[in-house]
Amino acid sequence: MSDVLTITRDGPVAHVIVDNPPVNAVGQAVRQALWDAVAETEADDAVTAVVLSCAGRTFIAGADIREFDAGPFEPWLPDLVNRIHEATKPWIAAIHGTALGGGLETALGCHYRILDPRAKVGLPEVALGILPGAGGTQRLPRLVGPEAAVRMITSGKPVGAKAAHAMGLADRIAENLIPDALRFAQEVAGEPVPYTDEQPATGSFDWDAARDGVVRAAKGQISPVRAFDTVRRAFDLPLTEGLAEERRAFLELKETGQSKALRHAFFAERAVAKPSAIAGAAPRALTRLAVVGGGLMGSGIATAALRAGLTVRMIERDTPALATGEGRVSGNVEAAVARGLMDNATAQDMLARLEGATDYEDLDGFDMAIEAVFEDVEVKRGVFDQLARAMPREAILASNTSYIDPTTFTGAVPGPERVLGLHFFSPAHIMRLVEVVQTPETAPDVLATGFTLAKRMGKVGVLSGICHGFIGNRILGAYGRAAHYLLEDGALPWEVDDAMRSWGLSMGPFEMYDMAGLQIGWATRKRLAATRDPAIRYSRIADRICEQGWFGQKTGRGYYAYPNGPKSKSPAPEVEEIILDEARARGITRRRFSPEEIVERLHAVQVNEAAHILGEEVAERPMDVDIVKMLGYGHARWLGGPMFQADVAGTGTVLDRMRSVANDSPGSWKIAPLLEELGATDTPFGTLNR
Ligand code: CAA
Repeated sequence: MSDVLTITRDGPVAHVIVDNPPVNAVGQAVRQALWDAVAETEADDAVTAVVLSCAGRTFIAGADIREFDAGPFEPWLPDLVNRIHEATKPWIAAIHGTALGGGLETALGCHYRILDPRAKVGLPEVALGILPGAGGTQRLPRLVGPEAAVRMITSGKPVGAKAAHAMGLADRIAENLIPDALRFAQEVAGEPVPYTDEQPATGSFDWDAARDGVVRAAKGQISPVRAFDTVRRAFDLPLTEGLAEERRAFLELKETGQSKALRHAFFAERAVAKPSAIAGAAPRALTRLAVVGGGLMGSGIATAALRAGLTVRMIERDTPALATGEGRVSGNVEAAVARGLMDNATAQDMLARLEGATDYEDLDGFDMAIEAVFEDVEVKRGVFDQLARAMPREAILASNTSYIDPTTFTGAVPGPERVLGLHFFSPAHIMRLVEVVQTPETAPDVLATGFTLAKRMGKVGVLSGICHGFIGNRILGAYGRAAHYLLEDGALPWEVDDAMRSWGLSMGPFEMYDMAGLQIGWATRKRLAATRDPAIRYSRIADRICEQGWFGQKTGRGYYAYPNGPKSKSPAPEVEEIILDEARARGITRRRFSPEEIVERLHAVQVNEAAHILGEEVAERPMDVDIVKMLGYGHARWLGGPMFQADVAGTGTVLDRMRSVANDSPGSWKIAPLLEELGATDTPFGTLNR
């Protein structure tokens, strides 16, 4: 008997039930209890077979990741799985929910696996920068062959019960899981225990081509490639040697910077969605949502809301605009079907819940509205006036503004406690980040509803206070400014982009500008020219490019030339000429920047801006910034975000780098007091992740 495991009896069948909420992670206590359960059932002559299942919402969801930094504590999971496998009585895993990582490996150690039809099984370890370390790389290929094993282990993606059965991973699918498993146990009780230890056959599998594909898809991440190489050893080593090889690889990967960053990302992603501002607040019920605006953002938000099961009313100014918006939503849904991400029935169900309107009539039954119209204060004010008149007094009103303080256009709304910002990222039906913007008056339950909506959409909400650009775009502003200073001081756009990509961004700053288009930024700069602080260095490079009519990919030219469409990006000598000309005009003697220095400088300015944001309490914790950058701005997950990387470099080092950036452009940068404070004693930002 233990706190985390019970054994009951059904005739000669012992039923071992793990109960370790919330997800039955197999930490030390569970391992010890299972270890003892093997001893007990082996010693009991009256037991002929053992069924292993879990209480609560899921089968074992993996090793306890929280132990990784301290452990391993005995008994080790690989030894436990071997011990189950070597039991003389058949062990049958009865799986519901998700059997992941060490959970599936425990099930692979069992002699049979029976799955609930809704169960999912997978080996997601590569997403944590490690590989399956309890036999998964050696036992899975023995059951399902090279192709399926490589796919599951290197992608980390789980498969459903049906697919698991078809590939030979599951012996049965059972609607009445536990009774069926107990009956099955009686059937196989007297039979010899099946072992699957023999060498599996490679068949016609092309290992070299498969490895090339894994390297390409990994985009700089180490663990998928190491996992591939370890799976391959299953085909040329006896099981015990393969397992030893796997153990070595697991222990090495666990200590890499990438794995530490990915574990940080795992816990941060869950923690940011529970800020102290919503502690104890109950989210409101949400079934009907109005989305104002059918442009790219509005239709993306509508698509995500339909996917979340809501009824959505899209409101546009006239019939043609509405038709275009609705067409965009159907296009998004059809694309998801074409990519195999959803079935036709789901697609039809979603589109049946989409309504359209060109006025604000009949919004009585709606719980919430999200405005996603043109980024202009007057236009937004008009929308909120209409929403306030048409919607119930308690309905939540959200703005998707990406820069503007929502209170500047919602002042006339009765009940300011129901107003918040929900800043989605384009394309909104795909990108996983939502900045949940709190005004000084937003009520906690309204904020909590914003977070719940994000979660229902499969996204992660991050709390932001109010400032120009909120967390993400404000940091982007500082980053873009520093990147242009680098051009004047000696680098070229393609050098900067290459350096940032090699560091781990999906795109460098200039290719990103070209993709997004340069026009809106130019218009904003012209509008704000009169209020610009003359003490801050102003680079004219972007303006000079726009003056040529070069607005990025859409016009075939921007920072780069695109002679044959977006895929034909090539360095543009004319842009280099503009850069050299601007440097000459400012009397700058250009110098060479190494890729490392480019990264260090552009990293330091992001950390500095984030430290300002933290000091102003616009962001609650450093990890909120990390998640914003990872989910919204293409920072590789295995970097763990800029604040995590600041701790890797040392905050003292980042402070020195920032000082050097600031010295090169006197008056243009303020060093954040928080960075000064932490850097002085090399204290990590991580200490503020309470
Ligand atoms: N270890 C420790 N804690 C875990 C955990 C794990 N393996 N999996 C989930 N949790 C925690 C979460 O941090 C969260 O904690 P808080 O409530 O304190 O935030 C709680 O369990 C619930 O998790 P979710 O919010 O994610 O719940 P969900 O219902 O949305 O998802 C899940 C459930 C699908 C199991 C999801 O939690 C998940 O994917 N977990 C990770 C699975 C995984 O990566 N397993 C492999 C572990 S590594 C391994 O097993 C190594 C090996 O080979 C030996």
